Order: sequence, then structure tokens, then C-alpha cells
Amino acid sequence: MKTTNKLKLQHSTTTQSANSMLVFTVQKNKKSSLIDVLNQVLASTLDLKLQAKQAHWNLKGPNFISVHELFDKVASEVDEHADTLAERVMQLGGQAQGTSQAIVRTSILPVYPTNLIKAADHLAAIANAIGIVSKLNCDLVEAADSVNDVVTADIGTGIARGLDKLHWFVRSHLQG
Ligand SMILES: [Fe+2]
Repeated sequence: MKTTNKLKLQHSTTTQSANSMLVFTVQKNKKSSLIDVLNQVLASTLDLKLQAKQAHWNLKGPNFISVHELFDKVASEVDEHADTLAERVMQLGGQAQGTSQAIVRTSILPVYPTNLIKAADHLAAIANAIGIVSKLNCDLVEAADSVNDVVTADIGTGIARGLDKLHWFVRSHLQG
């Protein structure tokens, strides 16, 4: 076999196996419910990002800089998680719902009080919100597992792992 033909054959085999992976295992009729779950998690995740910014801006008191910077770290990591969730929606053939209206309609987080000032109050509110979004991502893992979507399950696990670490950081400021 000529080298050129061999290369073509290898290329075609690689393309075929890549395509079959993209189709992967999620059946069409099950994709839409998983997309809905992803969009629900996305809305609460975006809400958490805004809540962390709200805390970052309005906080006053002792240890200002460390807590102020911690809330910014939460906002920036959570923003990356939201991006990953929205892009997974698109990979599954859905439409990402990330507008402010979608957040108001779909987020399950408690409304963030706009009159908080003390660090401890902001830390408690953000820790609670992080815990809720972490649990939502665990629910996403279960939903993905139930339709054999290992990629979405891995995304949910990765986000929950990151959020649990942030939860620990935030909680640690409340102790001692
Ligand atoms: Fe800032």
C-alpha cells in the first residue's frame, strides 16, 4: 500500500471513531432532560457568581482584604464552572440559558440580602449558597449517570470538587 493511501485510511478510521464518540451514548430522547438539568445548574451557578461579587463589594470590617479577595476567588472560579456547564449544553445540542431573566426564573438560591455588611454574615450566606450549588452538581452527576453520559458526570464531579474546596475556605473564616 502506498504511504499516501495508508495515511488516508488512518485518517478516515480516526474520523469515524471520533464521530462515534461524539454521538456517544446519550439517546436523543434523554438528552433534552439532561440539558434541562444542566441549564438549572447553570442558573444557580451564575447566581452564585453574582452573590460572591455582591459580598466582595459590600463587605466591611476586620480581615477585610483576605475575605474581600476570597470572595473574588469564589466569583472567578464559579464563573469558569458556569462556562463549562453552558458549553456542555451546546455540545449536547441544546441552548444555554444564561441571561439575567433565566437566572431569576430558574436559580434555586435564596435571594441575597442587599443590606449585609459584616464579614461573618457574608461568609455564612456565601457558604450556604456554595453548598447548594455543590449539591446541585451532585444531582447533575446522578442525572448524567442515569443516561450513561460519563462526560457530563465528570463535569459535575469536577465542579462539585472545586466548590467543596471553596466551601472549606469560606467556612474556615467562620471558625476559631
Ligand atoms: Fe474587585
